[in-house]
Amino acid sequence: DERTFVMAKPDAVQRGLVGTIISRLEERGLKLAGAKFMQIDEELANQHYAEHQDKPFFDELVAFITSGPVMAMVWEGADATRQVRQMMGATDPKEAQPGTIRGDFGLDLGQNIIHGSDHEDPGANEREIDLFFDEEELVDYERSDEPWVYEDA
Ligand code: GTP
Ligand code: MG
Repeated sequence: DERTFVMAKPDAVQRGLVGTIISRLEERGLKLAGAKFMQIDEELANQHYAEHQDKPFFDELVAFITSGPVMAMVWEGADATRQVRQMMGATDPKEAQPGTIRGDFGLDLGQNIIHGSDHEDPGANEREIDLFFDEEELVDYERSDEPWVYEDA
């Protein structure tokens, strides 16, 4: 199945939302394949957000993502990348629909709780997973509810 990179950002950790984020993805039927509670250094932040290096908000973005620990994760499932993006909601929490993670928990563009690989950027999921995880840190297993989530499992 498809894998995607997800991160509970420093604001989510400080606000005690890591469990909620995991629960939402878990309850959807997505499967946790890896997780790492970690502090992002400046070099990793620059690599992870390289696509934004020329944007006016880049320094702020790097400062924020390195400001405290994050929970970096890999989630697996059918259409996982796009489904996680839908569950996250719009980039600006003020525009995100209620029921989405950003729409339920955020009010500020710069502190928007969660990151997920961009489904409109082909290969972004694999690239980000490789940046944060070694292959042996990811676990391949079956969840016992898979036949109840997927008709043909
Ligand atoms: P990520 O999952 O974090 O990559 O968010 P995204 O894919 O929904 O948005 P995008 O990749 O376009 O932007 C990356 C991050 O930069 C966003 O999550 C915001 O926190 C931040 N950001 C984007 N646009 C702005 C902006 O105009 N001003 C500020 N301060 N931050 C911004
Ligand atoms: Mg993005």
